[in-house]
Amino acid sequence: MQNNIISGLFVGQNLVTLKEVDSTNTFLKNILSNSKPVPEGTVIMAESQYAGRGQHQNTWHAQPGKNLTFSLLLKPHFISPTQQFDLTRAVSLGVYDALHPLLGGGLKIKWPNDIYFGSRKLGGMLIENMIQGGQIKNAIIGIGLNINQDNYPESAGSAISVKQILQRDYDLKDILSEICSHLEGWYLKLKAGKTDIVRSTYLSRLYRLNEASEYRSNGETFTGTIKNVVENGLLVVERNGTEEQYNLKEIEFLNK
Ligand code: BTN
Repeated sequence: MQNNIISGLFVGQNLVTLKEVDSTNTFLKNILSNSKPVPEGTVIMAESQYAGRGQHQNTWHAQPGKNLTFSLLLKPHFISPTQQFDLTRAVSLGVYDALHPLLGGGLKIKWPNDIYFGSRKLGGMLIENMIQGGQIKNAIIGIGLNINQDNYPESAGSAISVKQILQRDYDLKDILSEICSHLEGWYLKLKAGKTDIVRSTYLSRLYRLNEASEYRSNGETFTGTIKNVVENGLLVVERNGTEEQYNLKEIEFLNK
């Protein structure tokens, strides 16, 4: 445990870099259950993951040494489990702010927590909250971002890297450092009770907000327009003049 290239108060101050691991989320979960207390803000970064995990039980593939794959420990005791989507918002905003100087207006947050450039996926998050005694005791924030990878197999769907957009390599630790400091800023806003600004900024950066697009739900394809994300994180889509709320499993974004 060491390193101090990262500005800010606590996020990233304890940075552990691993050559290879199954999954940084799993590694962090294991050290939390095994050993002495792990400081809030600890970051576990890996050059390579051989069993990286994504949302919906998917695997997360990233070429070794070319991408950011890391997990961060937060202890958001001040967020009630019913408001846990605020943490998703704050983390998404931190990643967005770190990449925005490089990528500008094409950058968007795809609900709930993917990072998009145009209509292509630059990265995603796997946030695992450990709830105990009605509190979020620990939150493991796993972030995977496509940075210097040159190409993707077709199976990677809409994946794109920063290098494919900007035609140059970036220093992974520089980007990590920017993410840590911006993420800390948004997290501290939440802690200070400035939830409204976190929610409104998240909404304003949402992919397809107020744009009519195609979705699928319950086997049906329809044209809908994203209008809002409610407090608990459900997506509000206007469909045939009425607003419906969806959770992650209930709606699929179609590429039309
Ligand atoms: C997604 O499916 O979009 C979420 C991907 C999250 C991947 C990251 S990589 C670092 C951390 N460790 C994991 O095993 N998963 C997350």
